[in-house]
Amino acid sequence: MLIITDPAQMAEQCAAWRQAGQSVALVPTMGFFHQGHESLMQAARKNAAKVVLSLFVNPTQFAPTEDLAAYPRDMERDKLIAEGNGVDVLFAPTPELMYPQGYDTWTQVPGLSRLLCGKTRPTHFKGVCTVVLKLFNITRPDLAFFGQKDWQQLAIIRRMAGDLNLGVKVEGVPIVREADGLAMSSRNSYLGEAERTQAPQIHKGLTLARQLFAAGETRSSVLRKRISEFWQEKLPLGRVDYLELVHPETLKAEKTATPESLVITAVYLGKARLIDNQILG
Ligand code: PAF
Repeated sequence: MLIITDPAQMAEQCAAWRQAGQSVALVPTMGFFHQGHESLMQAARKNAAKVVLSLFVNPTQFAPTEDLAAYPRDMERDKLIAEGNGVDVLFAPTPELMYPQGYDTWTQVPGLSRLLCGKTRPTHFKGVCTVVLKLFNITRPDLAFFGQKDWQQLAIIRRMAGDLNLGVKVEGVPIVREADGLAMSSRNSYLGEAERTQAPQIHKGLTLARQLFAAGETRSSVLRKRISEFWQEKLPLGRVDYLELVHPETLKAEKTATPESLVITAVYLGKARLIDNQILG
């Protein structure tokens, strides 16, 4: 596995592959890998001749009050995991290379970015879109793989790729969960013991909504109320940021649930803010 830090060298490598007729898949990450990341790498490996994995803790998607400095990092372990999953190039630029002095260009998908996570993280998706567009421009991938745990991010990047005719196929990969149902996330490492014990209840609450829907309940207000009551009892350490039932592409709130509806949440638990979602049907 090659390790590249310079965006120009990365672009040259991808151009050479393209010229040789080899397809390129990009897996954008911020590192500290878990099995969710590995499933992205494996999906990329299956679907393209060459796999580029970017590892960059992108400062522009963190607000000044957020966890940029504390964000977990383990480059040596990440290298081994990437290599073990058949990654061809680990692209790990520095912030100075990605955002040199005077950097002043931004990308936004304002409509979708204002909803859900955007309400408490109003600048987050501007940073995500900007870095992902830069990564797309550097690597010009045929395919790019993102986890469905960050459903809103995936919807926004799909919209950006379509609206800007980027010619990259944006693929969503299913959430990978711990045995007890907790969605895997690098931020799970922030959880204390009691918080970790309660964290699987986030998923269990969303699963309750699926069960109620399967039994015939379609009123969004009732589904949300039942989840909230469940969490009040089972997740007392949690503080719900939002809990919504939305259309999976427009992310607009829906009053009446359909099998395609998405139940989506963000919950503060200790130092972590955890997100999760499920399609109802
Ligand atoms: O999902 C992430 O890890 C990040 O938001 C991404 C897509 C790598 C952009 O920094």
